[in-house]
Amino acid sequence: MMRSLLVLLLVLLPGLAAGGAQAQVPPPGATMCSGCHGEGSILPLDDWTAAQIVAAMAGFKDGSRPATLMPRLAAGFSDQDIAAIADWIAAGGMSHDTR
Ligand code: HEC
Repeated sequence: MMRSLLVLLLVLLPGLAAGGAQAQVPPPGATMCSGCHGEGSILPLDDWTAAQIVAAMAGFKDGSRPATLMPRLAAGFSDQDIAAIADWIAAGGMSHDTR
């Protein structure tokens, strides 16, 4: 009995921790995006899915998506950073960000 409870806890805990942290704590660099893409900005990203943001950032990086400013910004982020930022934005992170 004790043993199966322990196993259950071990399976559940990492999932809970990861899910909780994602929406709350912005990944590195993410709050910078809010300055130009947050609520009330000219280019809000509220309706964008994580996959759309990842695809756009990849396009900025490899030049297939012509742009003025974003290619320089995107170049500074690893694919991992971008995935984390995209998840955060898609989860509504920027609308909770008051900075
Ligand atoms: C200094 C202002 C600024 C910052 C900071 C900024 N962006 Fe941008 N973003 C722009 C501009 C301007 C465009 C329009 C494309 C261009 O000319 O570069 C754009 C376009 C985009 C687009 C495509 C939007 C569309 O409607 O086509 C995405 C997605 C995006 N940015 C994501 C991000 C992410 C993610 C971050 C944070 C890592 C970020 N941006 C930070 C200014 C900014």
